[in-house]
Amino acid sequence: MPVKTPAVESHQMVNMPCVYRSMVERIFMVEQILSEFRLEKEDLKEVMGRMQREMDRGLRVETHEEASVKMLPTYVCSTPEGSEVGDFLALDLGGTNFRVMLVKVGEDEERGWKVETKHQMYSIPEDAMTGTAEMLFDYIAECISDFLDKHHIKHKKLPLGFTFSFPVRHEDIDKGILLNWTKGFKASGAEGNNVVGLLRDAIKRRGDFEMDVVAMVNDTVATMISCYYEDRSCEVGMIVGTGCNACYMEEMGTVELVEGEEGRMCVNTEWGAFGANGELEEFRLEYDRVVDETSLNPGQQLYEKLISGKYMGELVRLVLLKLVNEELLFDGEASEQLKTHFSFETRYVSQVESDSGDRKQIYNILSTLGVLPSELDCDIVRLACESVSTRSAHMCGAGLAAVINRMREHRSQEEMKITVGVDGSVYKLHPCFQARFHKIVRELTPHSDITFIQSEEGSGRGAALISAVACKMAACMLTQ
Ligand code: GLC
Repeated sequence: MPVKTPAVESHQMVNMPCVYRSMVERIFMVEQILSEFRLEKEDLKEVMGRMQREMDRGLRVETHEEASVKMLPTYVCSTPEGSEVGDFLALDLGGTNFRVMLVKVGEDEERGWKVETKHQMYSIPEDAMTGTAEMLFDYIAECISDFLDKHHIKHKKLPLGFTFSFPVRHEDIDKGILLNWTKGFKASGAEGNNVVGLLRDAIKRRGDFEMDVVAMVNDTVATMISCYYEDRSCEVGMIVGTGCNACYMEEMGTVELVEGEEGRMCVNTEWGAFGANGELEEFRLEYDRVVDETSLNPGQQLYEKLISGKYMGELVRLVLLKLVNEELLFDGEASEQLKTHFSFETRYVSQVESDSGDRKQIYNILSTLGVLPSELDCDIVRLACESVSTRSAHMCGAGLAAVINRMREHRSQEEMKITVGVDGSVYKLHPCFQARFHKIVRELTPHSDITFIQSEEGSGRGAALISAVACKMAACMLTQ
């Protein structure tokens, strides 16, 4: 393992008041502290190798329990053909908002299919996220009821596809238990229970509408399915938003948890949990440990905590506090706001790195956080943001490279052409994440030709499309 440059070594300098330090000295010391975030190619290859080992262990029956990467079968077996038609309701739960969507799947003369959506966003109150499962699902049912009223479709019993973006152990496409909450959700009484059952019960409790819940999918799976409609080589779905995760089409024979050898099944890797067996220890820094210890799920989702939007701003805030303590930033004084957990929002990281060079944007953000920065302060804050977001892109890149190299090996292809469908606020909104991420993935996957496509409303459209397939399958079974 390559040896990391230790953080600030010159004790003399550390204790010297910042007014006496030259700009060059300050920048030098800041860069030394930030250099801990840099990952060399060898580090990333190591992460990739360890991820592949955990993926293997996750797929095998005898090692599945202890594997940190769970590799959950989704029962999405082959991606659908675009011929299903009708109205579907799609729900999307997994970030800070909950969405209800009406999706019309129809036929179009030129492309053979057409998907139209109407949607409404509802913010999830904190007490619904962290109260009881009943409270959370009652709130969801209330939002559905409101949506049906608004669109005058309460009388219809529509098929419903549920994008539920948490780790679920499926027994079928419409049945699966929640293994554990992630991303700040904590509603009690949900873990270990059938999620579709919780939703059906809440709808029954309300009693003012009926729904036919036909499919539940992870957001990575919904993203992959919705992108498949644009590009039939799309066999990987990835999210880099509030959370971070990926799914891909695995050879059925390798998915030991499900019987059958023919064809492929989509596997939800739940790679965000990677690191739970110590695989990331030498890469985790003091800031990562604080983020983890103060989170609702300490010791869990360690890989996700290095990458995703839920934690990126908080990591930057902790780095800024470190620089203030070392008297390298803001004259050694942090404002009360800056001392407050999660005050440095992840969208600020994007905004800081989008600054055109006149530092206006950076200045404005810092003023809202109660500090009046010098020009050098602004530059240092930008360096801190770049370090955290670049590490995120590189770490995430190592994960995707692990998946893609593995797929190529299992398919025994010399060269593999593959499309990855991607969604998530970090991937879509950060000004440099994509470029850094694509570059590192391509460097780590020398024999693959990768196309990245962004999904639009993937969670809802994907859930509706897979519901269309599930309905068709049910119809087939009935007529047999
Ligand atoms: C978390 C969830 C996972 C989801 C991801 C992206 O990692 O556990 O299921 O796909 O966030 O939303």
